[in-house]
Amino acid sequence: MSHASPRPLEIAHTGPLAGRLTVPGDKSISHRALMLSALAVGESRIEGLLEGEDVLATAAAMRAMGADIVRGDDGIWTVNGVGVGGLLQPEQALDMGNSGTSTRLLMGLVSSHGITVTFTGDASLSARPMARVIEPLSTMGADITASPGGRLPLMVRGMNPAVPIRYTLPVASAQVKSAILLAGLNTPGITRVIEPVATRDHSERMLAGFGADLTVEETTEGRIISLAGEAELKPQQIVVPGDPSSAAFWVVAASIVPGSDIVVANVGLNPTRAGIFTALRLMGADITEENARTVGGEPVADLRVRHAALSAIEVPADLAPSMIDEYPVLFVAAACATGRTVARGAHELRVKESDRIAAMAAALGAIGVETEEFEDGLAIQGSGGAPLPGGGTIASLLDHRIAMSMTVAGLVSTRSVTIDDVSPVATSYPMFFQTLDELRKQAL
Ligand code: S3P
Repeated sequence: MSHASPRPLEIAHTGPLAGRLTVPGDKSISHRALMLSALAVGESRIEGLLEGEDVLATAAAMRAMGADIVRGDDGIWTVNGVGVGGLLQPEQALDMGNSGTSTRLLMGLVSSHGITVTFTGDASLSARPMARVIEPLSTMGADITASPGGRLPLMVRGMNPAVPIRYTLPVASAQVKSAILLAGLNTPGITRVIEPVATRDHSERMLAGFGADLTVEETTEGRIISLAGEAELKPQQIVVPGDPSSAAFWVVAASIVPGSDIVVANVGLNPTRAGIFTALRLMGADITEENARTVGGEPVADLRVRHAALSAIEVPADLAPSMIDEYPVLFVAAACATGRTVARGAHELRVKESDRIAAMAAALGAIGVETEEFEDGLAIQGSGGAPLPGGGTIASLLDHRIAMSMTVAGLVSTRSVTIDDVSPVATSYPMFFQTLDELRKQAL
């Protein structure tokens, strides 16, 4: 799946943003909902599924391996699963497009089935490291042949029965954790993952919700997750909460555009995901939680956000795992704050859809913001609330979050900002620009 033709866009300075909006379903939860439903025996229903390209790549892959997945006219997805151990040999290579989560989690699933699957992807995904999953999955018995540097295209020859492992994560990665747990589903015995630093726990929550025998212990070594294999998953009714990573763009936009006052409804606030809101509050953002509730086993609230004067902070490095996807837009907030914000301890940003440290240093530089690049982060000189100079052309580098973050920066830039290609936004947030138009109109 390569992106169609590049779609350049010019973003102009805006007046206040106002109104109530909803964000699309959580991307991480949507992937897992499709995968686990496809492994349950019987019919699951998913409401609020993110219909972005990344999640559609997962749906296509699960269909190619035997699951029956249908979208109803009411937007509810119905999945009839094959049962753990029942994945079929796909006829063709699985095209994962831009999606690292689809690739790594599905490599895990396939590893304990007796099938052989080739994974391909776009230029961004084909540059991303897969050794972090190849290593533990090979220990479980899978035979994986990758392109040089442990990259896509690669082929996984699954092992059935696979061998359970006890594995301590060398990098804080929910994708690696989840790949091993998903492989463990069809592996006899107990598969254990130890994470010294907690990462998003949607896989654990959802596996337990589907009836898997899973325990989590907090120990001095970290979180130990133990999963009993040869699991039987029972079909579920799933409601996917709004994606905090998508909400973050609007929370930052309303915080930095003077006069703004918005409500982002139905935002997932799982503590392993909500670090961006903590960091923004430390900077002085005016964010209040209304109508706190639980949706699909996840904490959710509506966020009211009003413009506020932001101050620079040293971003606490221990927030990194709970806001790893939100650094690009946090850097935009920092560009509008008073003082110099320093974010370190975020080396993982270098291996996302793009090298997000280099990409944001270049993008902010192109619109006149001074930055200093470190191996593991970025320092950003803030404007003290004044508009940013703007005027540059940004390379989005097949990275949706760079395109959306720099759109937000364009809203407070004196001269308009051109983004060379906003088509990657469709991977996680197809309605992003429509929502922006509505927020602008409602303030008029
Ligand atoms: C994800 C985990 C994170 C995140 C990605 C989604 C997931 O990646 O950046 O967007 O759904 O498990 P890592 O596990 O590589 O940190």
